[in-house]
Amino acid sequence: MADNNLEHLGIIMDGNGRWASKRHLPRTAGHLEGLKALKRCILGSIEMDIKFLSLYAFSTENWSRPKTEVNYLMNLIATKLPGELKFYMSKGIRILIRGRKENLPQNVSEAITKVEDATKENSIITVIICFNYGGQSEIADAINKIIEKKITTLITPELIRENIQFPFLPPVDMIVRSAGEKRLSNFLLWESAYSELGFYDKLFPDWNEDFIKEIIIEFLTRTRKFGGLGK
Ligand code: IPE
Ligand code: IPE
Ligand code: MG
Repeated sequence: MADNNLEHLGIIMDGNGRWASKRHLPRTAGHLEGLKALKRCILGSIEMDIKFLSLYAFSTENWSRPKTEVNYLMNLIATKLPGELKFYMSKGIRILIRGRKENLPQNVSEAITKVEDATKENSIITVIICFNYGGQSEIADAINKIIEKKITTLITPELIRENIQFPFLPPVDMIVRSAGEKRLSNFLLWESAYSELGFYDKLFPDWNEDFIKEIIIEFLTRTRKFGGLGK
């Protein structure tokens, strides 16, 4: 945003399962509730003039969950992603899906293509859904792309950055995580080099617009130095 420079926010959406267990509900009920919170976070980010919002929805490691849960999450994205098209269009939301597209069920790939195409001209906010995403495989993919292009100069951080998926995205200014875990779990490893970090106990299904505002207020208290001496 213009005043405090929080242009790109990343959210590790965690605690859906715990939210459901606390209520004696199946874990899937937590994922459904997490989806509602995700929508509130998008609205809160628009209100706060955040231009890029990255949401961690499914990691390359999440395939190790029980098949029923994985299938539920796949179906959730295949149906709810295109199901919210009206919402994206009315709010000017561009959707991008970041992560490995191969190995995804066909209905998921189709939903992704449809929504990315339909929203590509929207410019109020870009919401990047990280799905089948892993920071380490993303870096490996970038290096493989460089090799494929037969680039023979030395590998530099700039070269890697230029070959990462969606190189036009600005670095993530702040990464926040719900549900009390204090780790990145393979999220945006390349870009997090200088991100501010925030860890909150609140479970993701309980996040709302006001909580996004609180996060931004906290961001404003941080002094970013990027290895220098700060302002
Ligand atoms: C985050 O909630 C959603 C995904 C990783 C898909 P979890 O499902 O990890 O919830 P907890 O951590 O078990 O509570
Ligand atoms: C991180 O949550 C991945 C997503 C939010 C998609 P996890 O619940 O999978 O992370 P770990 O296993 O606790 O590190
Ligand atoms: Mg979790």
